[in-house]
Amino acid sequence: MPLDLSRLHLGCPYYPEHWPEARWADDARWMRGIGLTVTRMAEFAWALLEPSEDRFDFAWLDRAVDVFAAEGFQILLGTPTAAPPIWLSRRYPETLPIDDQGRRRNVGGRRHYCPNSPTYRTLSRRIARAMGERYGGRPEIVGWQIDNEFGGSGSARCYCEHCVTSFRTWLIERYSTLDALNTAWGTDFWSQHYADWSEIGAPILTNNAANPAQTLDYARFMSDSFVRFQRLQIEALREVVPAEHVFTTNFMGLFTQLDSFELAQDLDWASWDSYPTGNVFRWGAQTRNPGDLVPPYAFDVGDPIITGLAHDLTRGLKQAPFWVMEQQAGHINWESVNTLIRPGAIRLWTWHALAHGANGIVYFRERAALPAQEQYHSGLLKHDGTPDLGYREVSALAPERALMEAVAAHPPRARVALRYSYDDLWALQIAPHRKDFIYQRLIFVWYAALKHLGVDVDLVPPGAALDAYAVVIAPTAHLADAAEAAGLEAFARAGGAVIVGVRSGAKTTENAFTAQPLPGVLGGLVGANVSQWGALPDGVTFELTGELPGLAEPGAGFWVEALEPLPVADIRVLAAYAEGPWAGHSALTEHTLGQGRALYVGWYPRQAQAEAVLRRVLPMHNVPIETDLPPGLVLNRRGPYTMLLNFTDWPLSATVAGETFVVPGRDIVVRRMADARDDR
Ligand code: GAL
Ligand code: ZN
Repeated sequence: MPLDLSRLHLGCPYYPEHWPEARWADDARWMRGIGLTVTRMAEFAWALLEPSEDRFDFAWLDRAVDVFAAEGFQILLGTPTAAPPIWLSRRYPETLPIDDQGRRRNVGGRRHYCPNSPTYRTLSRRIARAMGERYGGRPEIVGWQIDNEFGGSGSARCYCEHCVTSFRTWLIERYSTLDALNTAWGTDFWSQHYADWSEIGAPILTNNAANPAQTLDYARFMSDSFVRFQRLQIEALREVVPAEHVFTTNFMGLFTQLDSFELAQDLDWASWDSYPTGNVFRWGAQTRNPGDLVPPYAFDVGDPIITGLAHDLTRGLKQAPFWVMEQQAGHINWESVNTLIRPGAIRLWTWHALAHGANGIVYFRERAALPAQEQYHSGLLKHDGTPDLGYREVSALAPERALMEAVAAHPPRARVALRYSYDDLWALQIAPHRKDFIYQRLIFVWYAALKHLGVDVDLVPPGAALDAYAVVIAPTAHLADAAEAAGLEAFARAGGAVIVGVRSGAKTTENAFTAQPLPGVLGGLVGANVSQWGALPDGVTFELTGELPGLAEPGAGFWVEALEPLPVADIRVLAAYAEGPWAGHSALTEHTLGQGRALYVGWYPRQAQAEAVLRRVLPMHNVPIETDLPPGLVLNRRGPYTMLLNFTDWPLSATVAGETFVVPGRDIVVRRMADARDDR
């Protein structure tokens, strides 16, 4: 039976290579017994599948597949290219990546490969195809996870000779002529003119900063390199497996170094690995504003807004239900503090994923490993093979399964889109202008504001189709091009609202400043120019005046821009600077055009200020703001279902669409709304 991505599936990976064969059948039985029907195998097992070059041993995996097939599991196989075997790296040391210090990486961990190495590509294609040939005909094998966490474990950048050669080819495709490249990169600056393609290298180990256009192109190139490496494997498999097999890779949520939208294009569905307590540490500093500490209840459940953003971004990769390919199901082992997990967390994470659009949740992992690198990581079973918290909570989902399945039948539909661009992220990383100007944090301000108001949102890449939305928010559209600007303007004229923020339209796609007045290509949309801009040190803010309630506190700080309305009809100033060098200049403008409007928010807003803007704009565009959620309570909708999840330990209440809900600590309320909105 093909894997039905429109329905709910729960699962758990299984590592037959970690356990005596005599245990496999017991493990398959208890996994099935707690309601799991999907497993994933083999994503790190290359050395066992191909013990020496071109000699394959599938017998053990055949038997593991037999055991899980007998229990009725649907099985995803991982291509094992995230774990190159020792023989491969030793025989072909040129497959090992070179880091930004020019050092060759060693074997012994994982992901030690260069995606541009011709040898690695050949051997990866061969193992993928061999697995496809072996398992394509088995009905219980339903799909594939390509590799594991592209870019993880410090593997997103390689600077080896193969990469540099491929980079030159990539540049020839992009620029055609050296003249075009020299112009785009501005190589007359600091005497960098290239007279031959072979002179171009990687942007590392430079004295002073490397060229920003070259650095951005290298990021795009490495991202494309993994796209091509993934495609090589998908193509190899598609040649030999049945057409109904589906393909994914497990993304890493808010990981920044590869363009997940690009990687997702060749996939049938998106999935990610969700570790909420680790992500509080890993992503807290790149999402929460300084001073907005991670809430105290978050230490053993994570921060639901951070986890939620990663869920929504993953759903946005295909604009369709996604999977959590690895769901934390106990404590983890890889952060600075690997906090304990209290009862209730795993059920809450399951519902949270489902509420954001997950249709598959695969609990990591079956049992805590005894030896090797992840021995401190929990599993559903303890080291001694007895049930741990994860086992108990997954078992306890049984009475809720019917409701979960009903929810999963409805793809989430949001009316607000939040633009998310890896190019902008990288360009701002290369030149933040104040070191803590972090793209994801600016996205997070608006995301947190929307979630606080209980508004569902889709994350969309630049240039995405906007027809389904009423409001589009681009916290910055830093590298927007003319085509995107035209699309946004058409969207506004047709009745949509566009909200853009600081540094929008400032750069070309080649990461040079625009020669037009700011906001560059967005000037016609915004109806105002940015006449002054700059960073402010911590603690300095300019007071704002204006008619919009909620903007005053704490004034405009961090990054500010002065706006000059253009001589166009229908431009309104909603806020102005009341003090500082730009006193009297506009800070927030609203341009009415056609049936819709465009707002420019001329400073880096605090969450409450973003909410003030949303409270004005959303209702004007028929997106109701129904609630105001206390910290720790989150709200999501799928079709007719409204779900409220309480991540704190104490009861919380909220009024949604006129009805008051009280949600006990660490609990969930799911309500089928009588006046369910259109479930398109
Ligand atoms: C993931 C990875 C898994 C395992 C897990 C531990 O990032 O895909 O293989 O290492 O982390 O939390
Ligand atoms: Zn390389």
